[in-house]
Amino acid sequence: MATMKFGQTDEQVVTREEFPLAKAVETLKSETIAVIGYGVQGPGQSLNLRDNGFNVIVGQRKNSDSWNKAIADGWVPGKTLFEIEEAAQKGTIIQYLLSDAGQITLWPTIKKHLTPGKALYFSHGFGITYKERTGIVPPADVDVILVAPKGSGTSLRRMFLQGRGLNSSYAIFQDATGNAFNRVVALGIGVGSGYLFETTFKREVYSDLTGERGTLMGAIQGIFAAQYDTLRANGHTPSEAFNETVEELTQSLMPLVAEKGMDWMYANCSTTAQRGALDWWKRFRDATRPVFEELYASVASGQEAQRSIDSNSKPDYRENLNNELKEMRESELWEVGTVVRKLRPENN
Ligand SMILES: NC(=O)c1ccc[n+]([C@@H]2O[C@H](COP(=O)([O-])OP(=O)(O)OC[C@H]3O[C@@H](n4cnc5c(N)ncnc54)[C@H](OP(=O)(O)O)[C@@H]3O)[C@@H](O)[C@H]2O)c1
Repeated sequence: MATMKFGQTDEQVVTREEFPLAKAVETLKSETIAVIGYGVQGPGQSLNLRDNGFNVIVGQRKNSDSWNKAIADGWVPGKTLFEIEEAAQKGTIIQYLLSDAGQITLWPTIKKHLTPGKALYFSHGFGITYKERTGIVPPADVDVILVAPKGSGTSLRRMFLQGRGLNSSYAIFQDATGNAFNRVVALGIGVGSGYLFETTFKREVYSDLTGERGTLMGAIQGIFAAQYDTLRANGHTPSEAFNETVEELTQSLMPLVAEKGMDWMYANCSTTAQRGALDWWKRFRDATRPVFEELYASVASGQEAQRSIDSNSKPDYRENLNNELKEMRESELWEVGTVVRKLRPENN
């Protein structure tokens, strides 16, 4: 573990130089890692672990597209692919990667197989932090650990195949064996993380719920819609409104921000853009700050978690969700997006 300065703040981080893959494999050489769930994170993490040389099995309910996907990815029924309960029984480390609602439903089944010395692993602090609402209370004699990749399972796999790594946070909620640190870091390296930064289950879930409701998805879509609608209401064409709102951002600016930072972007645009952006960004910050405060309070009170549990455990949740997603898909903004993407030279 190394201490790094981020601005004025010291943080504990683990990199692949300090904890190389060979050490991770050695640390877990007598463990069986059971990845429970083959949705989005399940495939990314299990395939990376397998390709990195760990003993991995997958637990997934049968008669499901995810079961067939696991077979297509090379997992063999009866050898490396099992029903959830059988995999949980065989695993010494149980990576609990069902959807957060699925984790609540399956908890009694998983709990039965948490015998002393095993490790229970999450990629989200949700189940443990909101235990009064989820009922997920692990026995005291198992390690309870977390590695949360900061991105989609699809990116985790894609970046691994490109020889890159997605940064992840890690946390230890319960260290029953005295070996929880080595276990969690070895798993973090094994699933294909870039660098690992320390957190707690609570901080992970609070920041994650805030981020996805905020700048990662909720706020950004809100700002896209507000600017697009303003341009359209003032007579701009769909092409112009979409290009000035989304296309230029994703195609030209964000790759540069990823590489060099927004400060660099501000220093390397036209003086007209620079003057305007410098004048306006604080107004947007001040206008949205109260919404972010309200959002964080809603996360911290458990209201966001409860809403998610209530809506995602309804029998007709998928149907309701599809209706809401349809509304966005059929909005002019994203219909125009489909056309603009088709017109990109690489898609012609
Ligand atoms: N999505 C991401 O990239 C991402 C990023 C960081 C962290 N995480 C965290 O990683 C964990 C897994 O998330 P995910 O997005 O990979 O989940 P997901 O795609 O929603 O996972 C669905 C998995 O759960 C199974 N499942 C759901 N309900 C079930 C039930 N009642 N009984 C049995 N199986 C059930 C599904 O099986 P079927 O296919 O058969 O329904 C599938 O294997 C979560 O804690 C999430 O917060 C996710």
